Amino acid sequence: MKYVFIFTLLILGAAGGLMGAAVVVRWSDNMTQTARILPGERVFRMPAGGVPRGGELVIPKEQRDVAARQPNPLRASADSIAIGRQHFGTFCAPCHGAEGKGGVTGPVATKFIPPPDLTHPELQKQRTDGYWHSYIVVGGAVMPAYGEALSSHEAWHIVNFLRSIAQK
Ligand code: HEC
Repeated sequence: MKYVFIFTLLILGAAGGLMGAAVVVRWSDNMTQTARILPGERVFRMPAGGVPRGGELVIPKEQRDVAARQPNPLRASADSIAIGRQHFGTFCAPCHGAEGKGGVTGPVATKFIPPPDLTHPELQKQRTDGYWHSYIVVGGAVMPAYGEALSSHEAWHIVNFLRSIAQK
């Protein structure tokens, strides 16, 4: 009887020891054996058409015709035009003049390649909202891009402002 008791204790002890050893081995080993990627170790290609969260797809300059077909998601309310006017005064007025009339006023306008008169009825008619939105976001022939400084939303507000200053 005494030996059966000791034998059982031995088996239990061995089983416990094995389980303990398994935990120790996995604890110390497993982490280094899993697939891991260190920052900068590999370059992943973004899936086509991938957009960062909270961002919007930026259509490149070369596809202006595609961008031109984008509808303006913002209603041209007084608020929207006021926001657009404010941003225009900050980012655009140096070249386009506060009135958007081109190389008439503004510290840069009179010395830089003269920008067109944005209030001109012909130009206003010719261009879609999407076209001008694209001009602001990715830039023009010589005009710089403002996609970094302004959100897509803010660019639409500016488009609404530009429409509000059209010559009748
Ligand atoms: C560094 C000077 C400069 C700044 C700043 C600038 N523009 Fe321009 N912009 C130009 C010039 C020059 C042109 C005409 C040549 C070209 O197309 O690049 C132009 C053209 C345009 C056009 C006419 C596009 C067309 O042909 O229909 C629009 C609209 C426009 N700019 C809007 C803006 C807005 C809005 C801002 C501010 C976010 C801005 N620009 C800031 C220089 C500037």
